[in-house]
Amino acid sequence: MEPSATTNKASSLRWALLRRALLRRPASDPGRWPSEEVLAYYCLLQADMFRSKKVIELGSGYGLAGLVIGMVTEALEVVISDGNPQVVDYIQHNINANLAAFGGTKVKSMLLHWNQEAASDISDSFDVIVASDCTFFKEFHKGLVQTVKFLLRKVGRSEAIFLSPRRGDSLDKFLVEVKESGLHYSIDDIYDSKVWRRHEDFIAGNDSWPNYEKDHCYPLLVRVHL
Ligand SMILES: C[S@@+](CC[C@H](N)C(=O)[O-])C[C@H]1O[C@@H](n2cnc3c(N)ncnc32)[C@H](O)[C@@H]1O
Repeated sequence: MEPSATTNKASSLRWALLRRALLRRPASDPGRWPSEEVLAYYCLLQADMFRSKKVIELGSGYGLAGLVIGMVTEALEVVISDGNPQVVDYIQHNINANLAAFGGTKVKSMLLHWNQEAASDISDSFDVIVASDCTFFKEFHKGLVQTVKFLLRKVGRSEAIFLSPRRGDSLDKFLVEVKESGLHYSIDDIYDSKVWRRHEDFIAGNDSWPNYEKDHCYPLLVRVHL
């Protein structure tokens, strides 16, 4: 059978993202980490879980993962959110620049700060939440967990997907907060064989990422559900 246009688009995007994410050199670009790109790549691989679903990205930065979900997974709606108004302006700019690529999926930006009360009309309404590199702000752990609990749809199989490096005890502390809130989680470090192989290359001393260190650089996959 001939691969569809959507399949071709998804697989070339997949490779471009994986290359970009895992060949990135933080030494020359110290403020950026690949968790967002790995999240986007992971969402592409799991495209089926977003089909016809309402999705929100939290703390999205520029929102690559949300944009990719909007482009290739046939989600019903994708909200790309951040707590910084200036970042939300960038997100909206990115959405406007890619409008033609979203097909029937409604994609929008939202200002959403985890420590402030969110509008009641978005409670209990998302099937999938995604977020990358958002668990190292210990002061926001409680707010982030409460936001996840507030947003997840209470009926059906809703879940939140986090990609986060462990970063000292910050991820563990976040998971304690998750458990104390009554939510459940699983954690996985080998969730994709290609991502894991690149990680092993870096550990073995591949000098395209000098000073690579698992604790600080490698995003673990955490899935949270009600
Ligand atoms: C480390 S960046 C991660 C951005 C992107 N997801 C990535 O992996 O490149 C954290 C993001 O979370 C947002 N953020 C930080 N604290 C927040 C809060 N309390 N509420 C909402 N967003 C927050 C920041 O504005 C920033 O865009």
